Amino acid sequence: MSISDNFFLKRRSVLAKKMKNHPISEDDLEIIINAGIRVPDHGALNPWKIKIIKGNKLKVVDEEVILSEFKKENPEASSESIEIESKRLQRASIVLAVLSTPVEHPRIPNWEMVLSSGAVCMNLLSCAQSLGYAVQWLTEWYSYNDKMLTYLGGRPGIDRISGFIYIGHKSEEPLERRRPDPKKVISYL
Ligand SMILES: Cc1cc2nc3c(=O)[nH]c(=O)nc-3n(C[C@H](O)[C@H](O)[C@H](O)COP(=O)(O)O)c2cc1C
Repeated sequence: MSISDNFFLKRRSVLAKKMKNHPISEDDLEIIINAGIRVPDHGALNPWKIKIIKGNKLKVVDEEVILSEFKKENPEASSESIEIESKRLQRASIVLAVLSTPVEHPRIPNWEMVLSSGAVCMNLLSCAQSLGYAVQWLTEWYSYNDKMLTYLGGRPGIDRISGFIYIGHKSEEPLERRRPDPKKVISYL
């Protein structure tokens, strides 16, 4: 196989606002979430959780959490921004919320548990992209909102939202984006 055929050298995210949100197959969802939890995890502590948000729950979270918190924090918000905030999750067919849920451990640092939850996000993203879906890893403002964290089952002050993995369908192939200059970020010791 030539280097240019490698999936990881070609994968690209698709903006949530460009996704089509018709349903995705249950079989594919099962593959994606199983790939998501198959990550390096020092001490096998499983310091993360995935919440699957699909169907009517996308609308419920949009209205009861995102929109209501947005209005509380932005009482003067324009009707355009209210429209955007009222449909954040509904841009996707399914949203997978990933929580970093570190535990106390005598030897394994918290940092490594946080890194492992980033690996969950990346595996979910890559696996769904490998199946041909439009996928994007987003945090946006509501990842840093305590009502959202508790709604997803997280413990404020301990757990954090690593991201929302938006999964939908492509309407077109994404264009390549600017990539780092290898010479600036990679060197030999
Ligand atoms: C932790 C994390 C949070 C992100 N949050 C946002 C966000 O809130 N808004 C945004 O426009 N992009 C965000 N991005 C970037 C998008 O995922 C973007 O689509 C991505 O950088 C495209 O890269 P790719 O084509 O290599 O997958 C975030 C990325 C990461 C890793």
